[in-house]
Amino acid sequence: MGTDPFQLFDEWFAEAAVSEPNDPNAMALATAGENGRPSVRIVLMKGHGPEGFVFYTNQRSRKGEELAHNPHAALLFHWKSLRRQIRIEGPVSPVDDAMADAYFASRSRDSQLGAWASDQSRPLESRDLFMARYEEVSLRFDGGPVPRPPHWSGFRVAAERIEFWQDREHRLHERRLFERSAEGWREGLLYP
Ligand SMILES: Cc1cc2nc3c(=O)[nH]c(=O)nc-3n(C[C@H](O)[C@H](O)[C@H](O)COP(=O)(O)O)c2cc1C
Repeated sequence: MGTDPFQLFDEWFAEAAVSEPNDPNAMALATAGENGRPSVRIVLMKGHGPEGFVFYTNQRSRKGEELAHNPHAALLFHWKSLRRQIRIEGPVSPVDDAMADAYFASRSRDSQLGAWASDQSRPLESRDLFMARYEEVSLRFDGGPVPRPPHWSGFRVAAERIEFWQDREHRLHERRLFERSAEGWREGLLYP
């Protein structure tokens, strides 16, 4: 039996959780919209496994709109403390409402209110306007439960390709590539 890339991911992620100063789950998310031009930003991975890698965001954001036009993404973890990176690529689909509701409910109240107050990726006239919107939503929900905004949810990147990169001496770095095939995962090496 070959190596299971998800098990290997778990091992590296557990090591990163110990050695990184913060946010070992921070990953770069690259998308491209209709015009084919890439854009990239950091998001936090909030779930992972053979079915994919999950993050949450505003679906009307730039990334959300790009994914609506072109539901494919690339993810990158770079753990400087371990001198490692993991690259993941694959198609993207929304998580179901129950999962998004459960995650939203687990967030702090401030983050929940922020999700209502922020028109993510839209031009903002002033910081004061944002603060006023935050005040307005906190009065609107007035201590009661904050429901998940309809435009706020999660996306799952279903990995078709995962590459584990490990720094080695003399720049003889190691690259292990896993590609999904009909028979399962195929493993190979790449020149560094
Ligand atoms: C460490 C870190 C974690 C972040 N996590 C998230 C996240 O989980 N979801 C999110 O929407 N934005 C997150 N952001 C903000 C994004 O990088 C980005 O600014 C925002 O989502 C707007 O991106 P867009 O205009 O390309 O859609 C995070 C930023 C940093 C630096």
